[in-house]
Amino acid sequence: MSIETAVLVRRNAWTLPDGDETLAAYAAAVRAMRERDADDPTSWVYQAAMHGTSAEPPEPLWNGCQHGTWFFLPWHRMYVWFFERIVRAAVRETGGPADWALPYWDYGAGGVQATLPLAFRDSPGGDNPLFAAERDPRVNSGRGAIPLLAGSAAPALERPLFVGRTQFGGAVTGVGQFWRSPGAVEQTPHNIVHGLVGGDDGLMSNPLTAAADPIFWLHHANVDRIWFDWAGDPEHADPTDSRWTDQTFSFFDEDGQQVQLTGAEIGDVAGQLGYTYEPAPTSGAPTSRPEAVTMSTPNPPDPEQAEMVGASEQPTELAGAPASVTVPIDRATVESLAGGGDAPEALSERHVYLNIEDIEGERNPGTAYGVYVNLPEGASAAQARRHHVGNLSFFGIEHVREPRGDAHAHGLRYTIDISDLVRELVAQGRWNQDALHVTFRPIEPVDPEASEEEQHAVPESLSEHSPVQVGRVSVFYG
Ligand code: C2O
Repeated sequence: MSIETAVLVRRNAWTLPDGDETLAAYAAAVRAMRERDADDPTSWVYQAAMHGTSAEPPEPLWNGCQHGTWFFLPWHRMYVWFFERIVRAAVRETGGPADWALPYWDYGAGGVQATLPLAFRDSPGGDNPLFAAERDPRVNSGRGAIPLLAGSAAPALERPLFVGRTQFGGAVTGVGQFWRSPGAVEQTPHNIVHGLVGGDDGLMSNPLTAAADPIFWLHHANVDRIWFDWAGDPEHADPTDSRWTDQTFSFFDEDGQQVQLTGAEIGDVAGQLGYTYEPAPTSGAPTSRPEAVTMSTPNPPDPEQAEMVGASEQPTELAGAPASVTVPIDRATVESLAGGGDAPEALSERHVYLNIEDIEGERNPGTAYGVYVNLPEGASAAQARRHHVGNLSFFGIEHVREPRGDAHAHGLRYTIDISDLVRELVAQGRWNQDALHVTFRPIEPVDPEASEEEQHAVPESLSEHSPVQVGRVSVFYG
């Protein structure tokens, strides 16, 4: 395939210079692509269906998205890149900028940048191709912003490895649409931003409709940019395993021709794919992690090898209000583990994982949940921030299939490495050896002016949503 000779720059949609044509050209191209025949692979409908669709019978390369897997990042990088080429060709046809590149939405920068870029909101004439009515109305109007604990990539960027269930890029799986081992960046910000933008049953909330919303592509340019940043750290490395580097995925180019790429062909985006990202003035965005992070074990143990020391006995229902569950820890199991039993000093050498699984529901309610461990009663926003370990969101909940080759469990599963917080609690003498208390607090769009700590408060107006069941919460010592 032909590679552009000049390196094109993907820029921040919120900080484009006055008079810049990028978004207007995108709108015109979206309109043109919508007018193409549905069986034209470069049409809007066809491109969206390549991610996912419920339309039958499927055309070639429909329903190709890769989620809950280490192929999440490479598949979406390829998908977005070919889409960008198709849009650029349409932009050129209508006399737009020849060097058009897809902009990104950096919701993790906070403040106004965490609100939906203006070009995607409703226009007075009501004919804006970038607007979609099927979004959370708070996000769509700009009243509600993506909260930092949902939009910040900082926790994902701290993951030292690519491969693994709590690592940056996800665990080893086969090829397929919905697996159960997402990496850190797929969970936050990726999945959670889908739900917050789509709201209850909007386009972005469901993988079968998400790519039909024009903001999808700016969201994915941002996720791709986060990978670009992560991989730019000399201590980080993309997978070298041939099951990843040689895996081929197929797409259509701007001429409607079927084309292929492998993992080995996309790691150097400037050299191999001809694009780069505008340097981010926001890369020092506030993180939602406690400052006292001390852990940087280069090779944390695989959570698959860790030992379960306790599990909740009842399912938990999430329907819009905070909820908690207690996980009793089995002392006998802890004592039988090699390396000093449950003495707090020994515990602080371990990796501790929280497994939240058998998550089932009819559909993605849009609302996500912050996960807090041992949150004190009546905690202040500042305390809550320190006890926050990760998030729960439900993108793909309708589609997760029977697990392949796993002993039990259906539904979504999230694994969170809570070692940092455990170590901190042990050091402060606040660790309870007999039980772990897990609190889920709803995450909804927030006032764009709210401070980072205010964003950890329970949302003031709780909106009920269709229930989601968390089957089991368990604790593993690695
Ligand atoms: Cu394949 Cu953002 O989803």
